[in-house]
Amino acid sequence: MKIFLLIFLSILKTGFAQYFATCDGLTLFNTAGQVAYVNWPEEGISDTFCTYIFKAPINYYLRANISYYLAGTSPSCNYNQYVAVSIDNMPNWDGYNRFCGYRSNDDPLVVNSIANELKLGISSSYSDQFVSVSIEILPLEQGNCDCSWNPRRRIINGVDASPNEFIAHVGFKATVGSFQQSFCGGTIISQFYAITAAHCIANINDIYGISNVIMRVGSFNITAPLEADTVYAEEYLLESAVHHENYNNPQNANDIGIVKTSNYIRFTRGVGPACLPFLYEGFFVPDGSTLTAVGFGSTEYALDAEYDTNSWILKKVALYVESSLANDCTNDDVVCTVGAQYEYTRGDSCTRDSGGAVYGYINNRYFDFGIISRGVDCGGINSHSYNMYTVYYLNWIQSQTENIFLCDLR
Ligand SMILES: *[C@@H]1O[C@H](CO)[C@@H](O)[C@H](O)[C@H]1NC(C)=O
Ligand SMILES: *[C@@H]1O[C@H](CO)[C@@H](O)[C@H](O)[C@H]1NC(C)=O
Repeated sequence: MKIFLLIFLSILKTGFAQYFATCDGLTLFNTAGQVAYVNWPEEGISDTFCTYIFKAPINYYLRANISYYLAGTSPSCNYNQYVAVSIDNMPNWDGYNRFCGYRSNDDPLVVNSIANELKLGISSSYSDQFVSVSIEILPLEQGNCDCSWNPRRRIINGVDASPNEFIAHVGFKATVGSFQQSFCGGTIISQFYAITAAHCIANINDIYGISNVIMRVGSFNITAPLEADTVYAEEYLLESAVHHENYNNPQNANDIGIVKTSNYIRFTRGVGPACLPFLYEGFFVPDGSTLTAVGFGSTEYALDAEYDTNSWILKKVALYVESSLANDCTNDDVVCTVGAQYEYTRGDSCTRDSGGAVYGYINNRYFDFGIISRGVDCGGINSHSYNMYTVYYLNWIQSQTENIFLCDLR
């Protein structure tokens, strides 16, 4: 366990308002049980906007109880008297919510951070107004963790529109050569780990070199410069990339691997972990079950997709479980899929979609059902694909992740 320094409301040098720069604060929490407070108005500070950032170690989240008396009515709060809440600490306040009016100490507004970062802003200019906040740090556990969330659902009280439907999807890009697209996909499972295909790990380690590969999260247009991608898009360097010890033994078997990022992946409304299917251990998957494959890959892939078919933006396609396609489709670790037919083609996953997920969907959530491995006749009339069955590899995934918290489907 790492030791984190605890600093209560130490002063940040940067501020919104230069003339009241000392009102901004950063609080680093250390372990469960700690509480921090903000009481407004602070002495000598009024008529400005103060920013308070709270951070916890990974595998924790923050819960704020906020009571206030401020002019105006939520959600517009147009008298410039409000508490701003960013449950994912977006640098530009994207998707934040405003609150004003009155909430008593006995009935505070309770907000939970999406992951381990939370940001509050307070704007007020009258001395008879107040904002009183207490914030505590809580451990993530099965039952309170969240995964595969819909960015819109995570808005406290407002509206948002974003293309980040698959918050766990990542694309791997090489920084050497002219290959600006993504050579493989992957799926975030915790703040340090993403799973992918073993043959993608081989590309990372042996073809490009691990220091020449970046993992882009929160992406919709993987070819766009980072600034032109979604507001949630970020890039991470990799610390390690390992494949299953029995990859390719027998041939094509165990095509699963895992990468660890150098810095923790910041979870936001648009970036987070996939739900893992621990619930489905021992479950039989009937033929015809519908899955959704996701990827930045080839164009054929998108015939059944709702997005643009001829670009490197993220696409999804419906596929069906079908075990009669080939003898090896009945292997325990494999799920074969086939897409709907359109004259001479079929929906399918193709080259460069490898490593990404085929998702199941239950209780309004996508869960990681399989890892796209390889296909036959990409998008052609006889095409079908092999996916590694995630349930079969849950123990292996856990053995590779140092007991870092993994969120189950609920
Ligand atoms: C926040 O409020 C809940 C009840 O709504 C209470 O159980 C909890 O102790 C409060 N936390 C803090 C830090 O005040
Ligand atoms: C994706 O980004 C590329 C490069 O910036 C751009 O040319 C293309 O139009 C973008 N595609 C979409 C669908 O936005």
